[in-house]
Amino acid sequence: MSEILIKGGRVIDPATKMDEIKDVLIKDDKVLKIDKDINKDEISLDCQVIDAKGSFVMPGFIDLHVHLRDPGFTYKETITTGANAAARGGVTTICPMPNTKPSTDNPQIVKEIVDRAKSEACVNVLPVGAVTIGQIGKEVTDIKGMVESGICAISEDGKSVMDSNVYREAMKIAKECGIPVMAHCEDINLVAGGVMNLDDNAKKLGLKGISNAVEDIITARDILLAKETGVTLHLCHCSTKDSVRMIKEAKEDGLPVTGEVCPHHFILSTKDIPCDDANYKMNPPLRSEEDVIALKEGLRDGIMDVISTDHAPHSEEEKSRGFEKAPFGIVGLETSASLTYTELVLGGYLTPMQMAEKMSYNPAKVLGIDKGTIKEGSIADVVIFNPEIEYVINPNDFVSMGKNTPFTGKKVTGKVVCTICGGKVVYKD
Ligand code: DOR
Ligand code: ZN
Ligand code: ZN
Repeated sequence: MSEILIKGGRVIDPATKMDEIKDVLIKDDKVLKIDKDINKDEISLDCQVIDAKGSFVMPGFIDLHVHLRDPGFTYKETITTGANAAARGGVTTICPMPNTKPSTDNPQIVKEIVDRAKSEACVNVLPVGAVTIGQIGKEVTDIKGMVESGICAISEDGKSVMDSNVYREAMKIAKECGIPVMAHCEDINLVAGGVMNLDDNAKKLGLKGISNAVEDIITARDILLAKETGVTLHLCHCSTKDSVRMIKEAKEDGLPVTGEVCPHHFILSTKDIPCDDANYKMNPPLRSEEDVIALKEGLRDGIMDVISTDHAPHSEEEKSRGFEKAPFGIVGLETSASLTYTELVLGGYLTPMQMAEKMSYNPAKVLGIDKGTIKEGSIADVVIFNPEIEYVINPNDFVSMGKNTPFTGKKVTGKVVCTICGGKVVYKD
């Protein structure tokens, strides 16, 4: 038996729309009581009391899109270090993508990840299964078997399934199983060696470009396939204004389509790439200022549902190779909440309630899981976020093994000060 009393925080719950100063009493793994003033006589002697005055108390964040690199690339990240990074970022549930080695493409591997996560991770880990065996794009995986072993979704992340017929088969099965498809939209034939956005800056740096159509063509295809199959389609790391437009139209059409945006895409544009520094290299790439504004407005207007990170750790050596040779990807778990608060809440795009929706409640809805809320009886996955603290992002402070971020030296406002997962404190500032 253990108890935690969170005193005097601003409790923000998207499920009940509560936004009030309240105390939260946690007993074992559940929220026992939320009330104005929970007294000493209501708590046990060894109850841990956390002063949350001036802080938001929100449901723990759910990051639908991370890369843990385990198994296969544990010099970049492991289940343990990735989960620790999540906890430091206020994230209590992570969905690792299948592009590990071997890839997460069968029930046995899924089971191993689920089992290992139970002992090695301090947060909830819900693996995402591959769409095709080995992520080669040819043969659909045993989706039903993987669902039984614990996947929360399927995705070919890192690439698209280019064969539309193969993808459609997988979508039909995902629909039957009641899980979403998470789509990385990239027409590989159009990439043609591109490493950043196709624009003047690419020209100046002498680098090959990736046009918006690379993403938009597959976004359009995937929405049409979702319409045909009825599957829930979650569009990952949307980066273009036409992705936003197409998601808007799909929603108007009544389709179960959701859109995700990563902090780097709603904060940085291609113009922010100062030189040939691969810490600015990710897939999809940083786009034009017009795209950035469309993404922010899409989040504000409820078209874009989810903020996730695409946390993609790589080694320092790999990222030192320059744009041409370095792998795509940046880390995000430990900066996402601060960046979102600074850019979108202080920037006037989102209320704190909407921040909790995009980072917790809506991701839970995409997965159809009973999380993303902080109310009496719910699982005690909680983040305490102080919106006053200012600090400068320094990758040396990260507990992730990946230090690859374009946000080094950026001054942000708002910081995760405590993370509670399943009634246990997993991070404290
Ligand atoms: O930037 C990216 N990094 N985009 C992806 O799609 C894959 C990811 C990775 O695995 O490094
Ligand atoms: Zn991707
Ligand atoms: Zn990814």
